[in-house]
Amino acid sequence: MTDTSFHAEVTAKAADSGANASAQFRERMADAGGRSGVVDTARVDFLASKVVKSLNDIVLEEKVSYDEYNALKAWLIKVGEDGEWPLFLDVWLEHSVEEVASEHREGSKGTIEGPYYIPNAPELPWNGTIPMRDGEPGTPLVFQGQVRAVDGRPLGGARLEMWHADDLGFYSQFAPGLPEWNLRGTWIADDQGRFEIHTMRPAPYQIPTEGACGQLISAAGWHAWRPAHLHFKISAPGHELITAQLYFPGDPHNDDDIASAVKPELMLDPRENPDADGFIADYDFVLDPEK
Ligand code: DHB
Ligand code: FE
Repeated sequence: MTDTSFHAEVTAKAADSGANASAQFRERMADAGGRSGVVDTARVDFLASKVVKSLNDIVLEEKVSYDEYNALKAWLIKVGEDGEWPLFLDVWLEHSVEEVASEHREGSKGTIEGPYYIPNAPELPWNGTIPMRDGEPGTPLVFQGQVRAVDGRPLGGARLEMWHADDLGFYSQFAPGLPEWNLRGTWIADDQGRFEIHTMRPAPYQIPTEGACGQLISAAGWHAWRPAHLHFKISAPGHELITAQLYFPGDPHNDDDIASAVKPELMLDPRENPDADGFIADYDFVLDPEK
């Protein structure tokens, strides 16, 4: 493969990710019978009025011109045409929603889900290897720890869903050409809540740059990077599910994540694996009792 065709392929994959995220979200909402999208009239009235007022205040305070208004209109149309509303919302708004949703919790910190979660990834034993290609590129990573309740009890049989990008920063089912469940799995912890996940270390991830979100990023002189991360959903009966991401020390974007999703409590401390190639990282998850 020549350098040029490689770059063409990478760009084509990134362009599909936004549109696929819209289709996946619609499907999940339909599976939930649209229930999670229903908000009562009084609350819609209150919130929508507040949003409209905030926008009008900005126009008046900042003396927004017709050129700027039309640039905004064209851009909003393009966000929809490119299927990038999930990307836009998950990068620039979800972190605040997550903060509100988790402020009562005493257990482990969580963070945003992002646009690339798929439910029902293949089930694996407590120490299983994630589905991956023969010769999956990257550095091997063993991720191990324990799931406990806030009172210290181990949560035997807890479920850990993990998904992450590959060594080029692509997610299966959003970028074409990857096996369906590549780098996605569901582990069932042992009777002491322990897990030992075998995977490959993910690369830093650049949000797709050739659509409307990329247009905003370059027009504003921002960057498109998220630090390398592993995504999780951890659950056990009678406990609140945690959605989290974990990060690697030394990543240049840990302090400068476009999605504002990094927290100091979510940093791994990987060490070289004494028994095999690659790294080992330890991390325990503590779940709050269900409200
Ligand atoms: C986006 C991608 C991610 O992997 C993530 O964790 C959050 C947001 C995005 O492209 O919008
Ligand atoms: Fe991600």
